[in-house]
Amino acid sequence: MSYVPAQETTATRSSGAVKLHGPEAFAGMRRAGRVAAECLDMLAAKVVPGVTTKAIDNLVYDFVGAQGALPATVFYRGYRHSSCTSINEVVCHGIPGDRELKDGDILNIDVTAIVDGWHGDTSRMYLVGDPALKARRLVDVTYEAMMRGIAAIKPGATTGDLGHAIQAFAEAHSYAVVRDFCGHGVGQVFHDAPNILHYGRPGAGLAFREGMIFTVEPMINAGKYAVKLKPDGWTAVTKDRSLSAQFEHTVGVTATGVEIFTTSPAGLHKPPYA
Ligand code: MF3
Ligand code: CO
Ligand code: CO
Repeated sequence: MSYVPAQETTATRSSGAVKLHGPEAFAGMRRAGRVAAECLDMLAAKVVPGVTTKAIDNLVYDFVGAQGALPATVFYRGYRHSSCTSINEVVCHGIPGDRELKDGDILNIDVTAIVDGWHGDTSRMYLVGDPALKARRLVDVTYEAMMRGIAAIKPGATTGDLGHAIQAFAEAHSYAVVRDFCGHGVGQVFHDAPNILHYGRPGAGLAFREGMIFTVEPMINAGKYAVKLKPDGWTAVTKDRSLSAQFEHTVGVTATGVEIFTTSPAGLHKPPYA
């Protein structure tokens, strides 16, 4: 795996090399990350029993558009919606539709906003009504796992350090880290190099360098880590039908550590949001 100054690349293409971005990219990513995070803030009051995931998706479309931004998922590889809405045993890429949220559901909403070409990619969990303690505990541990992964990021540390921090914490709670989906480089490209695995060994993998921009988005299952794809070609569910949770931040590596671009301006970092 090689590194390349982003300005020496065709910015909007993935060359396979890991782009090292400069201050303009960080400024762009702050704007894009903020729009996506504000969208998730707006949704906190809208996630209630009886609402369909399609209605949530429409709110995302309208909100992002009103900020002069675009949802990156519309027409992305044949996807047609502004968000992914993943309920209970759905691991990721749940398709918005007629399903009504019901009391006790846990829901991930994943939004990517494109602002001036920059992609802010973030997701959070939402509690519908009053989920069981078991479900809320999974959500809590998943948030903490993501934050521990992010805390491991600084120049010289490795993707394995990040993965290990997440895996060790999740497995200490007898949960499993999904292997089939990972974080990704992001910027003017939605899904760029490198892959960011949410499991690993300390010191293994790619070393972080100042200027790298990528997502950290662990999916944690209450049961085993295996997933299967539904016939719609998008929806990933746990093979054992156990609950799954996910949070996602877009981050950049700084000279001394890490900057999170998608922190909630309203302080709605994890549920309960009320
Ligand atoms: N936002 C998702 C991610 O975190 C990607 C969704 S792609 C879609 O990378 F096509 F499923 F929407
Ligand atoms: Co992502
Ligand atoms: Co996402």
